[in-house]
Amino acid sequence: MIQNKLGYIVEYISEKNPRHGKKLRKQLGNLSEEYYASAEAFFDNYERFSLKEGKNLDYGIDSYLKMLTDMFNEYLIFARTGEYSCKSFDDAYKKVYNNPNIMEYYMHGLLMSQYLWKHHHEISLFFEASIGKYATNRYLEIGGGHGLYLAKAMEIFGPDAYYEMVDISKSSLEMAKSFNAEKKVTYKLQNIYNYELEKQFDFITMGEVIEHVEDPVSILKALGNLLTEDGTAFITTPTNAPAIDHIYLFRNEKEIEDVIMDSGFYIKEKLSVYSEDVSKEEGERRNIALLYGAFISKNK
Ligand SMILES: C[S@@+](CC[C@H](N)C(=O)[O-])C[C@H]1O[C@@H](n2cnc3c(N)ncnc32)[C@H](O)[C@@H]1O
Repeated sequence: MIQNKLGYIVEYISEKNPRHGKKLRKQLGNLSEEYYASAEAFFDNYERFSLKEGKNLDYGIDSYLKMLTDMFNEYLIFARTGEYSCKSFDDAYKKVYNNPNIMEYYMHGLLMSQYLWKHHHEISLFFEASIGKYATNRYLEIGGGHGLYLAKAMEIFGPDAYYEMVDISKSSLEMAKSFNAEKKVTYKLQNIYNYELEKQFDFITMGEVIEHVEDPVSILKALGNLLTEDGTAFITTPTNAPAIDHIYLFRNEKEIEDVIMDSGFYIKEKLSVYSEDVSKEEGERRNIALLYGAFISKNK
C-alpha cells in the first residue's frame, strides 16, 4: 500500500500535478511489500542526505516536478518533429552539465525517479540481482550522476575494491560524493573520451549515458578500452525518451542492441521495461519509452 513517506510524496505530487499523481497511484498502488519497504528505506535515506545538504524531502519532490516539466516540454517537440531537440554534446554541456541551476534539480529529480518510476526501479533491481555474479577489484562508474548505482555497487562488492567515478559535470560529482559520503571513492571531473588510462577496470557501469552523445558506438568503444578482456560492463539507455540533454534517439530495443554489437560487445544478460503498462507490441506501435539494461562483455 502507498503510505508513509511514499504516501506523502505521491500526495504532494498529486496536488501539484494531478494527472501525474494519478499515473503514479496506478503504477505504484499494487506493488509488493518488498517494494514498499525498500522505497521507505530509500526515501528515509534520501531525506537524511538532503538535510545534510541543507535541503529536504520537499526539495527532492520539487526537483522531480521540475524535471517532469522539462521532459513534458521536450515531449511536445518530440511528438511534433519525431526528434530530440538537443543536437550536440557541446549544447548539452553548456545548457545542462555545466549549469548547476539545472543540473542540481535534474539529478535530484532523477534520483527520486529511481523509486517512483516502475521502469527505472525494475532495471535497478536487475542490476542489484545480477551484479553479485561478477567479482571486481577495480570498479568504474561513467556518468554516475546522482551516485545511486555506485552506492549499490559498493554495497555488493564491499570495501576492498577500488572505486572510481568519472563525470563531466561538477554538480553530479558533488552530489554523488555527498550521497556516498564516508565511502572511499576517487572522483574525476572529466569527459570519458579524454580519460587517460593507467590500469583497466574489471567492472564498469554506465547508466543512461550513451543517449547523451552524438555517436553511441564511439562512447561504447571508449568504455571497451577501459575494460579488461574478461571484465563486464553494465549499461542502460532508453528508447523514445525526450529530455533536455538526450541527443541520440534509439527508436527500439533492436537499435540499442545493434549499437552494442557494432561496438564489439556481447550481451550476457538483459532486461527492458516499458514506462507504461503495455505489451511489447503496443509499446513498439505507440513508441512508448522503455529503459533497457544489459550486462555486456568483450568476450563470450
Ligand atoms: C542522465 S545522467 C545518468 C545518471 C545515472 N548514471 C543514472 O543511470 O541514473 C547522465 C550523466 O552522464 C554525465 N555525462 C554525460 N556525458 C558524459 C561524458 N562524455 N563523460 C562523462 N560524463 C558524462 C552527465 O554529466 C550526467 O551526470
